[in-house]
Amino acid sequence: MSLIELKNVSYSYNDSTKAVDDVSFSVRKGDYVTIIGHNGSGKSTLAKLIAGLLPVKEGSITVDSLEVNEENIPQIRKRLGIVFQNPDNQFIGSTVRDDIAFGLENKQVPSDEMEAIVEEYAKKVGLTEYLNYEPQNLSGGQKQRVAIAGILAMSPDIIIFDEATSMLDPKGKKEIKQLMYDLAGGDDITIISITHDIEEVLQSDDCVVLSKGKLFMHDVPEKVFANAEKLRQIDLDVPFIENVRETFGKYKIKLKANDLKGMVEELCRSGSKR
Ligand SMILES: Nc1ncnc2c1ncn2[C@@H]1O[C@H](COP(=O)(O)OP(=O)(O)OP(=O)(O)O)[C@@H](O)[C@H]1O
Ligand SMILES: [Mg+2]
Repeated sequence: MSLIELKNVSYSYNDSTKAVDDVSFSVRKGDYVTIIGHNGSGKSTLAKLIAGLLPVKEGSITVDSLEVNEENIPQIRKRLGIVFQNPDNQFIGSTVRDDIAFGLENKQVPSDEMEAIVEEYAKKVGLTEYLNYEPQNLSGGQKQRVAIAGILAMSPDIIIFDEATSMLDPKGKKEIKQLMYDLAGGDDITIISITHDIEEVLQSDDCVVLSKGKLFMHDVPEKVFANAEKLRQIDLDVPFIENVRETFGKYKIKLKANDLKGMVEELCRSGSKR
């Protein structure tokens, strides 16, 4: 069942070019969808349109059959959270505790319940000891975890990550990615993740490729990456394994395995037959 549906969505910041150009696709409930594309291909614009942070002027977007428009946005935003690239630009509270509580205050959750919810989610993202810290004094990875805890506390069923790990060091990246995979593992939360990380794309159920604002491909990751030549035309990388497959293909050797170990075994088998 599709939870999010985009139909012929276009968006221009000014009259000259379309940042998003006639994009249609849908996202099933519980899926983990990655969006990839070169810089300026319209990924963040698309995320903001889905989240109701930019007005849908052309085409339509629905979330659980609700049209994303001025009237429905408050209702949709209760169910949808968005984590941005820069962890510094998403703090409202003066302490981690206040920050995680912010959305709950808006929802008018009673204060005793609120305290328990804040502590539950701080624990979930491993920030219990930091509840009284000022968010500004945390590391990048910790800041992203505060942002994610604040969103999880609202119990959304959709979370959009817009390059949420790109400014983090390898350790921070790994932590946040693991948190995302854990969330994606359940059937309850639908995740849309904008990323340049091929490894992450391979973990997702479905991949949307944008180029110059247009939908370039939409398929399962294995099929997307099987089009290595097409992806290179729009300056995107393919996984190492696909490069290996392609190179052997040029010598008429077809490798079917999806990991390097499997490919080596295939090669050994074919060698022993000769
Ligand atoms: N606030 C804005 N005002 C005017 N033009 C904008 C604005 N934000 C984005 N654009 C333009 O819209 C196009 C799409 O930008 P967008 O930020 O959606 O791309 P992106 O795929 O997220 O890129 P990146 O990978 O660099 O984050 C680009 O040409 C960009 O210059
Ligand atoms: Mg962007």
